Amino acid sequence: MQKAALYECQSCGSRYPKWKGQCEACGEWNTLIETQEIKENKLKNSYNKDTKSQTLADVEHEDILYYKTGITELDNVLGKGLVKGSMVLLGGEPGIGKSTLSLQVCQECAQQGLTVLYISSEESESQIKSRALRLDNEIPENVWVFSQTNMMAIMKECERINPDIILLDSIQVVNHPELTSLEGTVSQVRYCATTLINWVKTYNKSAIMIGHITKDGQIAGPKVLEHLVDTILYLEGDRHFNNRILRCHKNRYGSTDHIGLFEMKEKGLKAIKDPSQAFIETSQDSTPGSVIVPYSQGNRIILLEIQALVIESGYGMAKRNFVGINPNRANLLIAALDKLCHLKLSAHDIFLTVLGGFSITDPSADLAIAVAIISSLKQQVVTNRIGICGEVGLTGEIRPISHVDKRIIELNKCGFKGVIVPKKNIITTSDKSTMNVIQVSYINDVLEHSFKRLSKIHA
Ligand code: TYD
Ligand code: MG
Repeated sequence: MQKAALYECQSCGSRYPKWKGQCEACGEWNTLIETQEIKENKLKNSYNKDTKSQTLADVEHEDILYYKTGITELDNVLGKGLVKGSMVLLGGEPGIGKSTLSLQVCQECAQQGLTVLYISSEESESQIKSRALRLDNEIPENVWVFSQTNMMAIMKECERINPDIILLDSIQVVNHPELTSLEGTVSQVRYCATTLINWVKTYNKSAIMIGHITKDGQIAGPKVLEHLVDTILYLEGDRHFNNRILRCHKNRYGSTDHIGLFEMKEKGLKAIKDPSQAFIETSQDSTPGSVIVPYSQGNRIILLEIQALVIESGYGMAKRNFVGINPNRANLLIAALDKLCHLKLSAHDIFLTVLGGFSITDPSADLAIAVAIISSLKQQVVTNRIGICGEVGLTGEIRPISHVDKRIIELNKCGFKGVIVPKKNIITTSDKSTMNVIQVSYINDVLEHSFKRLSKIHA
């Protein structure tokens, strides 16, 4: 096959015969770079004449087999554990703990007698050794380490060692010699990932591949990479805090609801002991702008602290800055509050943050965000030991949310005295007798009553 010049978008992977300033597919500017067409695989165009389709009823059912990694938080996020014959992609910011978590997986799995191959394209074998010693003084047998960037050498080593579990740290730094493009480019990432995935699927092994993320928080490389793998995990958190959150964005073998909560300690990532209270500040007397929301995520309820700072804008456009809160959702809420409660928020700078590096994805935190904004604006303290949850509609109605009973139980368990929940939710838990449960139907009810009524609860 003749090699023709080819330009590939580094954002979406689209290819063009000529260079262009803007990718027509994704609209990004200056993302096209020259690359080389992958050698046409002769096998690709041929097919095995014996392959036939079969009826679904005739397809043999195979049970899904799991390797328990021994790290319970990770196993829960994955479903039951690392599925045999599956490929997991683990993404996260630099320094968040991806390599640490992978090495912990290696050591735990090797302790169960599995053979593990840890391939690092970023660190030397001795660097891996010192990290492993930091995590655990005893180095288990059967952990093989290989510092290599050449994908062909890596595959050869996989053949030789025949590991049960492979860890590749990271996919952006390996390169396949069959391609001339630089490592980290879309074609390299795609080709190297496909090579490893094919091997894993053929021999029914499990693999975890680490991926860098871009400045927007997406896994760097083509979207196709995300389609190729079975599971996508993100390790998140604020680097200034020790809490780390493991989230699942895609899971072919289970739900994506569960999250893993870790703490970065001296000896690696450890499960948080009291997850429900790990994300709230310890100070008991709350300050204006701070609200606690009982947040439901997967199978657990976590108490989150939302803080708002609302100040009059100096001049020009009002500033908005949101950490851990979807900006579209926050702007929508601000607009609704402005209109419904006549707060003149357009003339105020608004800063919102969720403490502990947690990102909110569920609208059940709407009401807490709204109350935090009002609290900061009016400089009124929301009474201590109260939780607020509910979804706010654009017309100001408070919509029902899921797991209200579980949220109330968790608040009660953590010593909270009261809770504000949507009126439309039916509460059945007996905990409502020991908690002051206030049910609201409109945002104005909250504005009118909450601060005053909340003070009464406290009294
Ligand atoms: P690392 O796993 O190298 O991050 P990534 O691979 O995502 O870039 O984690 C690096 C950080 O974790 C580093 O700042 C040191 C810290 N750390 C601990 O606090 N405890 C430990 O036991 C280890 C191994 C690292
Ligand atoms: Mg690393």
